[in-house]
Amino acid sequence: MKFLVITYGCQMNVRDSEAVSALLMRQGYVCAEGEADADVIVINTCSVRGKAEAKALGKLGLLVADSRRNHPDRVVGVMGCMVQRLGPALFEKVPGLGFGIGTQAMSRLPLVLQEVFEGKAPVLDVGDGDDAEALTGHVEGHLSAFVNILLGCDRRCTYCIVPHVRGREWSRPAESVVDEVRELVGQGVREVTLLGQSVMNYGRRNPVWPEGSTSAGGYETPFPRLLEAVDAVVGIERVRFTSGHPSGCTPELVRAMAELPTVCEHLHLPCQSGSDPILERMRRGYTVDQFRQAARVLQAAVPGVALSTDIIVGFPGETEEDFERTRAFMEEIGFDNAFIFKYSPRSGTPAAEWDDDVSDEEKMRRNQVLLEDQTRRVEAINKALVGQRVNVLVEGPSLRNAARWSGRSRTNKVVVFEPIPGVERGDCVELLVERVTATTLYAVGSVRGA
Ligand code: SAH
Ligand code: SF4
Ligand code: F3S
Repeated sequence: MKFLVITYGCQMNVRDSEAVSALLMRQGYVCAEGEADADVIVINTCSVRGKAEAKALGKLGLLVADSRRNHPDRVVGVMGCMVQRLGPALFEKVPGLGFGIGTQAMSRLPLVLQEVFEGKAPVLDVGDGDDAEALTGHVEGHLSAFVNILLGCDRRCTYCIVPHVRGREWSRPAESVVDEVRELVGQGVREVTLLGQSVMNYGRRNPVWPEGSTSAGGYETPFPRLLEAVDAVVGIERVRFTSGHPSGCTPELVRAMAELPTVCEHLHLPCQSGSDPILERMRRGYTVDQFRQAARVLQAAVPGVALSTDIIVGFPGETEEDFERTRAFMEEIGFDNAFIFKYSPRSGTPAAEWDDDVSDEEKMRRNQVLLEDQTRRVEAINKALVGQRVNVLVEGPSLRNAARWSGRSRTNKVVVFEPIPGVERGDCVELLVERVTATTLYAVGSVRGA
């Protein structure tokens, strides 16, 4: 049996897809080369914006039609956030689906497939608890891996569907996280990204640390302590984590970022808006000034830190003035990367009850303006790197041009260079930046040809 997993959505979905792939392989399934030779196709879905759902639904429609015509025995199913949101309505939207598996039932995929093969389609399983610990596998051969540390989300940003589809916040026991990282290192992984919707909340709700130990080592909150524990895993080269929140940028966290050698100078710190009334209506839990303070403290303590962010344009009631404030704020912080989203009402969230009063054209315009600003800004940031050394985790021949090699800097920038004798995939090397574009640093070995 050959399977294919197609992934939409965030890094959590990328991780989940990898974990179910590993699970299926353990059960004897083989990875298909593409759609044509797959007996089972699973689409992992995202509900965060209407467009994300529309894309997945479009793809599913095509796959089901193609299967009917050309692969009558093929099973097409859906997993993830959209299943959790739509439930049985999913089967009305896409007749012919084999199954739907929610965000808390993914480890049951082999059992669900079994039921489908027994003729029970469509099978819906949205789970009844947390199957996080049951779903921790990885596909071998990668240098970089995502590791869940905090599931669900207890914040209630007024626009966001994630808490509805991912459930309550739950921190994995630190020992499981560290064991997983250790195992990954044993499989050749050099870099891990610790995942959580509000990752710095790690360890707050369910006490995963032994009684009384949360302040040991001078740390007040468990997340910096988890970073210490992961940093201490022998053989791990780089540690990242996402997404951050200003409230989590405590002195302990900043100190951990500054002092722990594997923790990269890179933080995804979504700000969403640079205007206080909007932030308040989004219920983000910080003001512009609090965000500014968090960013300044990080930038001062962690030289060269690259901050990336998420922005929503066209939130209900966002005026031109609010928008211009966001624009100026992005410039003030000097974000290294920004993901800009057009506000999309999600039913069941408070904001969906408000008038979606910024027209689509205007959302598009604001989106475009911020993207152009961002490109200009990152060009300038990258230009300042010319002549400097960067540490690169070598990935091997570049996808575009196999004569060139590529890798990533600790600030998560793509670095392209000519192959260096003796330097192999998985090595970390110091390279000298020669020239740059908005997306790439071109670098050379410190001694040319050496
Ligand atoms: N937990 C992360 C974000 C997860 S969702 C955090 O709070 O930082 C990823 C991004 O999608 C968000 O940061 C936000 O910018 C965007 N997003 C979420 N809901 C949205 C909506 N209804 N419309 C448009 N963008 C949205
Ligand atoms: Fe959504 Fe807010 Fe939770 Fe992020 S923190 S997942 S934006 S509710
Ligand atoms: Fe991620 Fe989308 Fe779900 S952003 S958590 S895949 S709704």
